[in-house]
Order: sequence, then structure tokens, then C-alpha cells
Amino acid sequence: MSRLEPVRQPLRGAVRVPGDKSVSHRAVMFGSVCDGEVVIDNFAPGADNRSTVEVFRALGAQVTLSEDARRVTVVGRGRGGLASPDAPLDCGNSGTTMRLTAGLLTGLGLEATLIGDASLSKRPMGRIVDPLRALGGELRADGERGRPPVVIEGGEAFQGGAAELAIASAQVKSALLLASLMSGRPLALTEPSPSRDHTEVMLRYLGAPVRSSAHYAQPELEGRPEVTLEAWRGTLTARPVTVPGDISSAAFLMVAAAIVPGSEVVLEACGMSPTRVGVIEALKGAAVRLVERDPRNLPGGEPVADLVVSAGPLRGFEVLPVDVPRLIDEVPILAVLAGRADGTTVFRGVEELKVKESDRLAKTAELLRACGREVEVGEDVLTVHGDPEAPYTAFRYDADHDHRMAAAAIVASLVADGPCEVSGLDSLDVSYPGLVADLESLQGREES
Ligand code: S3P
Repeated sequence: MSRLEPVRQPLRGAVRVPGDKSVSHRAVMFGSVCDGEVVIDNFAPGADNRSTVEVFRALGAQVTLSEDARRVTVVGRGRGGLASPDAPLDCGNSGTTMRLTAGLLTGLGLEATLIGDASLSKRPMGRIVDPLRALGGELRADGERGRPPVVIEGGEAFQGGAAELAIASAQVKSALLLASLMSGRPLALTEPSPSRDHTEVMLRYLGAPVRSSAHYAQPELEGRPEVTLEAWRGTLTARPVTVPGDISSAAFLMVAAAIVPGSEVVLEACGMSPTRVGVIEALKGAAVRLVERDPRNLPGGEPVADLVVSAGPLRGFEVLPVDVPRLIDEVPILAVLAGRADGTTVFRGVEELKVKESDRLAKTAELLRACGREVEVGEDVLTVHGDPEAPYTAFRYDADHDHRMAAAAIVASLVADGPCEVSGLDSLDVSYPGLVADLESLQGREES
């Protein structure tokens, strides 16, 4: 149990949030099959990305990290540069590592077994195994009910073709795209609504003929978003990648700035992919004062901006199912915001939260209740009854080894009426090891 004290003064200052986790995974994976050296700047600092580095080293890629681990150099030797590993590949807590690597290895026709920690071992892999198998891929999930380990059986059986994905998931979409890319077989897929498109953006930047429908730039368009990759046997061109700040990590500081009275915080170089900014739209729906400054593009193709967020009166808001993939990882922290808003907030279509690193639907409801708020949970709806007047009640909470739940609890504790006790804070290492230090720097207290 860690003891967390409520904040005594406004949060003020500027923070450079850590590099984006999703983009960092992809840069290592795609760099490993490029035609030379890819230098990755602002690499994400968390354990999930270290898992990807170790998995690709075990596959034969040459990956070196600078002393502070923020610059990573990957030397790719094309499709032929990777080989079947001798031992199971440990993906740790990282679903992205397991699902994307499974697609890539299926396309290459290599043999491997992918394993993970206790949380990852409970997560569904049928969502990648089934569509990959439907297109000829030879792999299986050996755990109960389609859980890990994932066994890639080897052999070049992946044929490509058409896929209609049942869920909007960037991990599933990316697994199929990587199988297509590595096998040189064509792919045309659609998904129910636009999931994050970092795979498509980076593959295009590195020269692959990936095409996306306009939904990924304009998520409000009707109809199913479509992504295609023609049969292509070329090799990705090595180019430098600068990783944007992780908007999912920034979301914790944005909400902290919005709920701690008198705060004003600048978050530098945050990723602004149209497929990730659902959280910004939700914050605006809650009347959060948020200004986007200096929009620009980074090497690697991702857009960024500096975000200025200040505290002010908040109102309840509504999140619709079509918006959920664009803020899927931010629901817990948005619920913390909703608890401090005037009125009711409804998150619709949030069933996917049940199969994240923990059952985040249940764990978010538990956190808000511990804070003294009324919450209703349905099959795929979360309703939070906010109260801007009452502080959160001092709480005890178990984050269940889930990094996003731990971070959400830390932010909630800032506005509690007494010290809180939270277990499972070590899981912050997965995505945002520096969160507590960043919050302290915004209170004018640098960690020694
Ligand atoms: C991710 C996609 C999302 C997200 C996860 C990272 C990615 O998962 O929740 O944290 O990097 O592609 P799903 O694709 O399962 O929705």
C-alpha cells in the first residue's frame, strides 16, 4: 500500500510527457524489417516497450538503447533478417507486443511461442488468431478459451484476402496488416469504427503501399473504415522516427490540471492523431479549458501540438460507442474527471474495457465509488453521477496491477479530503514510470 497525500496548491508549469507507447512498439517492430538503420527518438520509457525490444532482439534484430533509453537504434536486414527463436518470447504485460508480433511472424512463416505475465495470460487472443487463420495463417492460442500462449506454427500459408473485423481494434487490424506485409499477400479489411492508425501511418512513411479510407482523418464519416495493402514484396526504407508525446499519459495530467483548482499546465509535443484525440473531445464536452498550440508534424508522420489545460467549472458529458476506440485507454481517467463535474456522465459502448490489463469497467466503477460517487455499470455502459462541490472521500484502492488504474487513482487522490492508500502503484512502470515525479514538478517540488 502506498499513501498518497492530497495536493495543497495548484498545478503549474510545463511537462514533456513520455513518448507514445503504441508508436514506440511499432518503430522497433518495423525498424527490425527495414533495409538499414532506424533511429527512434523520444522512445517510450515503460516496461511494455522494453518487452518489445527484448522480443525483437530474441528474433535476431539488432536493437541498441542510449543511456537514458530515450533514443533507440534498430538495424534491420529486411524480411530475411529475423529468425525463429530458440525459446518462448516473453511479452510481459503487453498485449500490443503479443498481438502485433503474432501477425508479423505468421506472415514471415517463422515458428514461435508467445507468452506473457499473469494479466496478459488472461487476455483474449482469438481476436487475432481467428481472422489470421481465416486467411490461411497457421497459429493457435493454447490457453483456455483462446488465451495465451500463442503458438505460431511456421510455414508460409498466409494467403491474404478480405476481412471484416468484428471489433474496432488497432491491435487486430495491425496483426493482419503485418501478416500481409511480411507475406507479400494482399489485404483489404474493414472495421466498425476507426481505431488508432499508427501502423498505417508509419508503414506509409517507410514506403509500404497502405491505403486508408477518409475515416481515419475524419472519424465522424458514416460507413465502415477500410484499410488495404496491395501484394507487395518490397522492403521498408529505413528513416528516422520521432515518437510523439503519449496522449494517453498526458490525459492523467490534463485531468489533474482540470480538477485541481487554480491549475494551468502545458503539455509539450502531445500526439494529436485524429484517431487518438477522443480524450480531447471528451474534455471539451466537459467544458475543460484546453488550448492547442503550435500544431506540427514529426519525422515518422505523426502530428503533435502543445496543450494548455486549466482548471474551471466542469459539466457532465456523453461518450458514444463510435468515439470509444479513440479514447479507449482514457475511460478510467475521464471517469475521475466526471466525478468532479456538475451532472451525469455516460460512457456508452465500453464493453472492451473488460478485457484490458484488468476488468477496467469494474475497476473504474470501484474507484469512483471509493471516492464517494454514485456509479452505475451495465453490460457496456458506465454512468457516473458527478458532484463539483464535494471533494473525493479519502479512499483505499487496489489498482490490480493495472497501470492505468494506478495512474487514475493517483490523480483522484489529489482532490481527496485526506490521505489515500493505493496498492499496485508499481504497475506505473508499464507506461508512465515518471507520473509521480511529473506531478511533483507541477507542484514546484522536484524529486531529488
Ligand atoms: C493499442 C491498441 C488498443 C489500446 C492499447 C494499445 C495499440 O488496444 O487499448 O493500449 O498499440 O495498438 P485494442 O486494439 O485492443 O483496442
